[in-house]
Amino acid sequence: MNKKNSMEKPANTNLDIQALIKRRYSPRTFADKAVEADKLERIFEAVRWAPSSMNDQPWHLIVGTKEEQKNYDRIFDSLVEFNQIWAKLAPVLVVIVADTLSAKTKKRNTAFAYDCGQAAAYFSLQAMEEGLFTHQMGGFSKEKITEAFDIPERFEPVSIIALGYKGKIEDLPENFREMEKAERERRPQSAFVFTSDWGAK
Ligand SMILES: Cc1cc2nc3c(=O)[nH]c(=O)nc-3n(C[C@H](O)[C@H](O)[C@H](O)COP(=O)(O)O)c2cc1C
Repeated sequence: MNKKNSMEKPANTNLDIQALIKRRYSPRTFADKAVEADKLERIFEAVRWAPSSMNDQPWHLIVGTKEEQKNYDRIFDSLVEFNQIWAKLAPVLVVIVADTLSAKTKKRNTAFAYDCGQAAAYFSLQAMEEGLFTHQMGGFSKEKITEAFDIPERFEPVSIIALGYKGKIEDLPENFREMEKAERERRPQSAFVFTSDWGAK
């Protein structure tokens, strides 16, 4: 794993949670360094082993790297402007595209978004294991991605993941630096763990 640097933002918890979960966060700055092919392969293998409803495995990944540029640019162009400002630092952009039809029932797979979310979680944690950081994005045009890659109608782009080694805060425009330094916040467990009636602890 890469040497830690001062801008890392581990989860602020006293509980002894799994180290990768504690360390993962979504930076907006990435180093100008390519991601090794074997690391990418292991990240995609982790996705492969994500659980899914009826084992339908609805996820598909479109990978763009700065080395090959063509796919990268097509993915990059679909991002909203806010995301383009920082995501241009990421050496790899990956689109998760869902099959909206179940391979088993041939009907609409109501779990495709859930399953792709799990795939993204597996992606992020395996990336962390490799010393890499991820930043998932919903801010992109599904229409642009669909058109750029000629994706058939039954498939739906669900998210784009920026992937790479973490960069320096100075590489971000001034107005993004505060965001990058901001404390990571979460609701307390009492807000979402109910052990009696709805809303009750
Ligand atoms: C489905 C999804 C969509 C997101 N979309 C964006 C986005 O478009 N732009 C962005 O800067 N961050 C985006 N994020 C990142 C979240 O804001 C971030 O995960 C959240 O604030 C928690 O921070 P952490 O990942 O550092 O713990 C997205 C995250 C997820 C899971």
